[in-house]
Amino acid sequence: MEMPDETDGPILEVKEVAKKYDTKRSLNLFKKSKRLIPTGASSLMRTASWDPYPIFMKKGKGTRIWDVDGNVYIDFLMAFGPLINGHANEKITSAVRKYIKNGDLYGTPNELEYKLAREFKKFVKTQDMVTFALSGSDATFNALRIARAATGKDMILKFEGHYHGLHDYAAVSVEAPAPVAGLKWFPKSLPYTAGIPPAVMDTVVVSSWNDLESLSKILKIRGNEIAAMIMEPIMANSTLVSPEPGYLKGVRELADEYNILLIFDEVITGFRVSEGGAQQLFGVKPDLSSWAKSMSNGYPISALSGKREYMELIGNGVGYGGTYFGHPISEVASLANLKILETNDFEAYTHLARITRKLGKGIEEIADDMDEPMFVNYETGLLTFIFTDQRKITNYRESILMDWTKYTGVQKKMLERGIYYNPDGAERIPLSTVHTEADVDAFLTALRESIKEYNREN
Ligand SMILES: Cc1ncc(COP(=O)(O)O)c(C=O)c1O
Repeated sequence: MEMPDETDGPILEVKEVAKKYDTKRSLNLFKKSKRLIPTGASSLMRTASWDPYPIFMKKGKGTRIWDVDGNVYIDFLMAFGPLINGHANEKITSAVRKYIKNGDLYGTPNELEYKLAREFKKFVKTQDMVTFALSGSDATFNALRIARAATGKDMILKFEGHYHGLHDYAAVSVEAPAPVAGLKWFPKSLPYTAGIPPAVMDTVVVSSWNDLESLSKILKIRGNEIAAMIMEPIMANSTLVSPEPGYLKGVRELADEYNILLIFDEVITGFRVSEGGAQQLFGVKPDLSSWAKSMSNGYPISALSGKREYMELIGNGVGYGGTYFGHPISEVASLANLKILETNDFEAYTHLARITRKLGKGIEEIADDMDEPMFVNYETGLLTFIFTDQRKITNYRESILMDWTKYTGVQKKMLERGIYYNPDGAERIPLSTVHTEADVDAFLTALRESIKEYNREN
């Protein structure tokens, strides 16, 4: 007899979940894991903001995710962004199942890679060539190296609060505590982690984002030493902050003036805010770009793309490669994922934009109704809402002026109501093409209740 698919059932009613909510097995697993794995998981982001312990998940399907205690949630984390077409999307998993019989890895060129490069170009019309890697960090690291080789200069300029992975040149001023972070117009380069040699800090200049005047001043001082400026074209790792009108174009002009390569890190925004990423949305062409998360719906692969003259430095002086780079299984998954997204002239993005707007407008309405000071911002497929008196946020230093305790407190109450997302207020909420209006309504109902309950208790 065919078993009923538990994913087809309706989620538990809000009150029913609250009554039954029990996460003992997660606690137990956390205690055991910490003894063997530092912090209990292989990436700090998975445990860092969870108080007192994170929830261990065991299964996902569509927009639903199940924890080890059997609780089911509507997922608004989506693995920090990759799951643009939802958990275990049948079209993608069946393509992988079918392909996997052909072997695992060849260590040779293969046709899939060519097909994926062609597919990539259908989405990203602003870049001439592309090559594949494994993680977003691989792509940003190699982009910086190409820029240094291309310009013969050593320095990198990055922006305060922007995240490009944890390699040494990127792990600078990601979270920079205000008292030691230096002047707003010319922040100090601060290591994001112990273990980075001071010499690395000397090669990374930091600027405030969304502020052309400060950037111009810094470039007047250091511009001739800088090989590349790297940024998230929409800042999506310190809440979600959109570029001010004309800002990206202004940075492009400054890059040209000082012979600096402009790198857009589209690891989050790529294949999400539009089919061609933020560079298409805002009509500004970078010299190089990095892509990852939404390209493959959860399989490990990233892409590094750019102008032909720079990309052709690979193999002509610039080293590049990795045993698992452009993994065939991930390429099969990416091809199937992109096929879904491109169907009917990229129709998926219309739905994604609609449900993001519905969630954003819904949260704004809650803030108004409840007289709750909040900042809400969204771009297609990405959203942030934080508790703050500021109505507008344009940079990292403003983004951290929020009530972090309240964000985490409300998130705890959302979990009990069957809504899952990260407790860190700096993380944005990624939506997927399989989130429905009903999922969004469930989020909004739970949020109203959770804020009310939090305010009553605090
Ligand atoms: C904008 C951005 N760039 C780079 C990275 C690093 O990607 P990965 O974690 O795949 O190394 C991330 C990861 O979240 C990211 O958000």
